[in-house]
Amino acid sequence: MESKISILITCLIFATAFQLLLPVSEASLKVGYYKSKCKRAESIVKSTVGSYVKKNPGLGAGLIRMYFHDCFVRGCDASVLLDPTPANNQTEKLSIPNNPSLRGFEVIDAAKAEVEKECKGVVSCADIIALAARDASFLLGNISYKVPTGRLDGRVSNSAEALQNLPAAFFNLTQLEASFAKKGLSASEMVALSGAHSIGRSHCSSFTSRLYPSIDSTMNQSFGASLRKLCPDPKNATNDGVVPQDFVTQDKLDVQYYKNVESLTALFFSDWSLLTSTETRNQVDTYTKEPEKFKQDFINAMVKMGSIEVLTGPPGEVRGPTCRFVN
Ligand code: HEM
Repeated sequence: MESKISILITCLIFATAFQLLLPVSEASLKVGYYKSKCKRAESIVKSTVGSYVKKNPGLGAGLIRMYFHDCFVRGCDASVLLDPTPANNQTEKLSIPNNPSLRGFEVIDAAKAEVEKECKGVVSCADIIALAARDASFLLGNISYKVPTGRLDGRVSNSAEALQNLPAAFFNLTQLEASFAKKGLSASEMVALSGAHSIGRSHCSSFTSRLYPSIDSTMNQSFGASLRKLCPDPKNATNDGVVPQDFVTQDKLDVQYYKNVESLTALFFSDWSLLTSTETRNQVDTYTKEPEKFKQDFINAMVKMGSIEVLTGPPGEVRGPTCRFVN
């Protein structure tokens, strides 16, 4: 009996110590945070996202990418949504990784407007992005999970920080792993999140360096030849075209991405790089065979990404009436 009590006490001490070790953020976000504050917040976001994504599934891809690009720069604080002003004319959304490729801003505007009508000044823009990414994952991948909420919005947005913190399509595995490690995410979580490249589109400029002057040996040669038809040599091109990330199941968030990586038919050098360590290559291979494992790992990594450096007190605020300007 005595030994059972001492085991119990030891467990309690460890559990408390662990809780203290968690970043403030993870400890204070909560599933159902808005239940008492704005009962319909989550369902309003869901129906807004639904109405846009049904018309244009690409916007769902945009929202999932927006969540990633928000969380990697100053944490998940909606800094990516801030418009330039005379006082700050270089916000994150104008940076190379975001402009002109990031999309879905109109969906967040619409969701925020609806939520404000019902509960003025209560629901943060950062939470709306996190919820919208979850709702898009459900619509495109039948992936369903609960999102801890309670984030506040930041008051700072700086385009240079986006360039410093977001991984680029030409990164090798070491650079990718370092970029995710800086945000507290493992190589394995990086591989799981990369599955988002099974939806949406890419501009030709993100990968034409793999097509010209010759098709990179890291790319399937006939795939490269067909991409060349869609994306002319930038030397002669007049505009930057777009192509699907996944030519097989374009609007489905599924494991086709990993099959594409294995067959050297994924667009980016960074995608190919997942084959360059035994661990990441094995994980890619596992996902091609175990879609349910991919789903679960994707969910866990999405939730974890949502806790990066979140603000839950001052100087954070609930931005309003729009997400485009600080209060
Ligand atoms: C591993 C490092 C990553 C790199 C280097 C990378 C790079 C890129 C690039 C260059 C594009 C195409 C942009 C364009 O030219 O239009 C893109 C698109 C996209 N990325 Fe990533 N990405 C990475 C990780 C992620 C993660 C973690 C997510 C989300 C969980 C994500 C979600 C997406 C989505 C959904 C699109 C399509 C967006 C649309 O159709 O609007 N990516 N990514």
